[in-house]
Amino acid sequence: MALLLWLGSQLSTYWNGISILGIFLTVFTLLFDFMKRRKKWNHYPPGPTSLPFIGTMLHIDFRNPHLSFNQLRKKFGNVFHLQNCWTNVVVLNGYKTVKEALVHRSEDFADRPYTPVYEHLGYGSKSEGIAIARYGHVWKELRKFTLSTLRNFGMGKKSLEKRVTEEAGFLCSAVGSEEGRPFDPRFLVNNAVCNVICTTIYGERFDYGDKTFKRLLHLFEKFLNEETGFLPQLLNVVPILLRIPGVPQKVFRGQKEFMDFIDVLVHKHMESWNPAHIRDFTDAFLKEMQKGKVAEENGFNYNNLRLVTADLFGAGSETTSTTLRWAFLYMLLHPEIQNKVQAEIDKVIGRERSPTMEDQVNMPYTNAVIHEVQRYGDVIPLGLPHMTYRDIEFQGFFIPKGTTVITNLTSVLKDEAVWEKPNQFYPEHFLDVNGQFVKREAFMPFSAGRRVCLGEQLARMELFIFFTTLLQKFTFVLPEDQPRPREDGYFAFSRSPYPYLLRAVPR
Ligand code: HEM
Repeated sequence: MALLLWLGSQLSTYWNGISILGIFLTVFTLLFDFMKRRKKWNHYPPGPTSLPFIGTMLHIDFRNPHLSFNQLRKKFGNVFHLQNCWTNVVVLNGYKTVKEALVHRSEDFADRPYTPVYEHLGYGSKSEGIAIARYGHVWKELRKFTLSTLRNFGMGKKSLEKRVTEEAGFLCSAVGSEEGRPFDPRFLVNNAVCNVICTTIYGERFDYGDKTFKRLLHLFEKFLNEETGFLPQLLNVVPILLRIPGVPQKVFRGQKEFMDFIDVLVHKHMESWNPAHIRDFTDAFLKEMQKGKVAEENGFNYNNLRLVTADLFGAGSETTSTTLRWAFLYMLLHPEIQNKVQAEIDKVIGRERSPTMEDQVNMPYTNAVIHEVQRYGDVIPLGLPHMTYRDIEFQGFFIPKGTTVITNLTSVLKDEAVWEKPNQFYPEHFLDVNGQFVKREAFMPFSAGRRVCLGEQLARMELFIFFTTLLQKFTFVLPEDQPRPREDGYFAFSRSPYPYLLRAVPR
């Protein structure tokens, strides 16, 4: 009996010890969390109430973040804050605010947040690619090199225009071979656009229907889907979870496979590389890597080669092909606009000659339609995340250095204070009373400032040549037995139309 009593008292002391420790740990953790989330600055932007540990993450629908932001903007104004666990985020909304940040305070907002979820792909302090690289010397060198090399390989020149025209011809043949039957244009358009960037980076184009290429596109789609939703956001802000064995491999399987694919393309180059004969962007990068220590310091290493080419492939294919798919969808939904574009093509180019970039100035209506596709299609609704490069005062608020900044491009492209009919497809947004094309400052699908899209010139050329070539040869109509396609889009980093079928009737 005495033994039992003794055991009982030992146990209760033990449990008391555990519960005291438990209480202490809980209080400590809550306090630590509170300190991490506490805003010790005056005039920090307003925002929704932040909960322990998860901050304001429950306020965001990560499958449609731009819609959540539009709601929060109504409540808190053009500059509001969010809290992704312990990461401070500020969201900028509306043309005036976004322009002030990206254009007038360009360097203040030029940094990018570190993105731990890409570490398993080789991203790290010595190799960050371009698109998500921290602002600084290495990013500047890589961006400069990439722009000048793309120009050497024809960006903004006749030589690349010829390549795009040739690819548009292949696309027309493939569309023609559908013989007016209903088909989903997605794969063909993707293939055509990817071929342009693939020839520039890897010196290769793939035939439509090529199995390897289908796999590459499928992997890239998986790549984008794996970036969307709550889990990747959580892993980014609580990177310790990525250390759990198997987590990155399981969550980002498609991304890993996509990079393995890029590795194969790069290795093939390394085997046949000849410094006297630079065939493409990859060869030019390999040449730069040979320049020794200085080149190494400027970021020219193997990991960066795979990341930069993956950046160009990723940024350069999905965005442009999605825009074209929006363009064809709007032509289906607005046949009267399609007729007007075709009338202008017939008048300026005719039915035989291939369109060239010089035609653009004589085609204000078509140009306005393409701009309106980009505005209304709103393909990158939130741009890429930025980060403040230093402590700043902005529109009466204090935003500390290292704050993640989201530029809500949707709120610019559909700003009610700027556009006459922000939520309608209305090409007249880009036409004056005489039917001449007018530039609009709030047209920012490529963003603006130091981190503005590096491929804007190429993208504009592709959009014009592909769009006019196809409408010169075909009229797009809705298949009779199909429901009217949805006009809203789905979000997976980019905003794409839901799959739809069309019939391409030869003209
Ligand atoms: C319609 C087509 C395109 C759209 C709408 C688009 C849009 C964008 C946007 C919104 C950004 C983020 C800018 C920022 O952070 O503020 C961006 C960045 C970028 N884009 Fe594009 N883009 C398109 C086509 C292309 C093409 C064809 C290429 C490649 C040749 C490309 C390469 C890049 C790169 C490398 C960046 C990162 C720039 C940096 O961080 O310095 N894009 N693009």
